[in-house]
Amino acid sequence: MATDSTTTAPIPDPAAADQVENSTAEQDINPWSVTGAQDESGEVAAIDYLNLAKKWNTSLIDEKVLERFERVTGHKPHRWLRRGLFFSHRDFDKILDKYEKGEPFFLYTGRGPSSGSLHLGHTIPLQFTRWLQEVFDVPLVFMLTDDEKALFKDSLTFEEVLHFGMENAKDIIALGYDVKKTFIYSDLKYVGGHMLMNAWEFSKLVTFNQVRGAFGFNESTNIGKIFFPSLQCVAAFGTSYPEIWTDEPMQERSKLIASIPCLIPMGIDQDPYFRLLRDNSSRMKNPSPKPALIHSKFLTALQGPGGKMSSSNPNSAIFMTDTPKQIKTKINKYAFSGGQETLEQHRELGGNPDVDVAYIYLTYFEEDDEKLKSIYDSYKSGELLTGELKKLAVELLQKNVAEFQEKRKEVTDEVLAEFMRPRKLESRATTQVQKLLEEAEAKAKLAVRPKKK
Ligand code: TRP
Repeated sequence: MATDSTTTAPIPDPAAADQVENSTAEQDINPWSVTGAQDESGEVAAIDYLNLAKKWNTSLIDEKVLERFERVTGHKPHRWLRRGLFFSHRDFDKILDKYEKGEPFFLYTGRGPSSGSLHLGHTIPLQFTRWLQEVFDVPLVFMLTDDEKALFKDSLTFEEVLHFGMENAKDIIALGYDVKKTFIYSDLKYVGGHMLMNAWEFSKLVTFNQVRGAFGFNESTNIGKIFFPSLQCVAAFGTSYPEIWTDEPMQERSKLIASIPCLIPMGIDQDPYFRLLRDNSSRMKNPSPKPALIHSKFLTALQGPGGKMSSSNPNSAIFMTDTPKQIKTKINKYAFSGGQETLEQHRELGGNPDVDVAYIYLTYFEEDDEKLKSIYDSYKSGELLTGELKKLAVELLQKNVAEFQEKRKEVTDEVLAEFMRPRKLESRATTQVQKLLEEAEAKAKLAVRPKKK
């Protein structure tokens, strides 16, 4: 499955050993590595997202979806929706149906804490999820897969990933999540009770044959890795977190809670997990609807297309801990440029914003559509120079990262503890669920009363 690449996550793929070395290769996207297609000379192409959507049979987020989103929610679609960074989905329209009818659903997303600090690429799905939470007014469960990272990376101990997870959680909180609606948990600390029961039940439904292809496992894969997908999957079942719905202790997993739909924002590399989930969610004792998914592209590495920002390659990424100076140096030194070789040529021929990493970063973080358009046109015409374009990107990124760092300072251990405390969440959706639970209970009591001795 996965080919090895210097720009991608360092997790060794068990199947990689079977690969023929360095011939042409198709693009390869899986939960542990992302590589563009390669030609004979080893040149890596940009990731072809349309091709991926087609191959995996996902639906594209088109104008129609965006229009409906705006009509139903009354919110202008986020710039990452307008600009196609979140580009694909499964059943997102069904979530809009639910929202339109005023019925409850919840959000689930996660992060594998493979290092102590986030880079800009990690923050994209996270900021987007926060925005969705605000728009929909729904609870969010946030899974830190510390267990996954220790299982998949030989050099990491369970203690280390647990620590990374706590640091990452503080970063996540600094992105502005609402504590009343958000439960963040570490797998290593939280998983037990109904969630673990769900995971075992799910694992019973899935054979090794079914996962070996999807995840590139083989007979030498450690058995933790083989079980782990169950856990990442069942995190999309409301019954895995009885506490977030009600203060009443739940003896058994509730059918009603299992039936609450879930929406999962994610990088498209996580899709293989959730295909497995969608294939099996209705087979649980308490069936759940197929979770809806919304997929993002990856934040382009500084080096340009064909890779994504990666923690294992510091020069490929802007870190949320970078100083203004580091950001400036990285952009000026490493950001792949679509400009011409010389000033004269640039003035004459114009630059290519479509492959220019500084421009691409502007598309992620510049809110103003018109301003962006004028930058695009002026770079293309040769009026705006590479140095000037880079300066615009540097300033915007410096601002974004500095704001983040300010907020990060406010995230104390107490704040973290509150986000990670299993507790009832407050939102329109949880109020509705509470009411449904009470009604169901009242009905059950009524049904019991007429029974004669
Ligand atoms: N496996 C993901 C990672 O390595 C973390 C994760 C868990 C996740 N559950 C998720 C990501 C749901 C997106 C959506 O980063």
